[in-house]
Amino acid sequence: MLYIGSDHGGFELKEFLIFKIKNTGRPYQDIGCYSSDAVDYPDISRKLADLMVEDSNSQGILLCGTGVGISIAANRFEHLRAALCFNEAMARKAREHNNANILVLGGRILGPEAAWSITISWFNTNFSGDDRHVRRILKINGAPEKE
Ligand code: RB5
Repeated sequence: MLYIGSDHGGFELKEFLIFKIKNTGRPYQDIGCYSSDAVDYPDISRKLADLMVEDSNSQGILLCGTGVGISIAANRFEHLRAALCFNEAMARKAREHNNANILVLGGRILGPEAAWSITISWFNTNFSGDDRHVRRILKINGAPEKE
């Protein structure tokens, strides 16, 4: 499942991305917010964290105004690797190297078409699975140094 959520700063861009995602037929769940009324971005990242703990294969897209606040909040959860991306190259590397399971976008930073191109790059790229990247990701959550 793909979960997509935003605060008010990312609401408009979230709605655009949902329109595009719908056209691809990819299953998704809109986890809010559901209007441009102000909400607190940590509430949205917590909601996503709770949903993603149940299904380790799920992915997420999060948006706030800059993408900064919601990525800081999401990365407090050990099972989330949220990557704030400003272009396609960052989105590809976030998947290949960091196995990012959340793409973060800034609703007040990116235009809709740029955001969609970044999203497509993220969708179309898999984790490389290379030993060095696996090792580094495990170390994020405190895996011991290998002998
Ligand atoms: C909300 O005004 C704004 O602070 C938020 O969307 C985000 O940019 C925080 O990092």
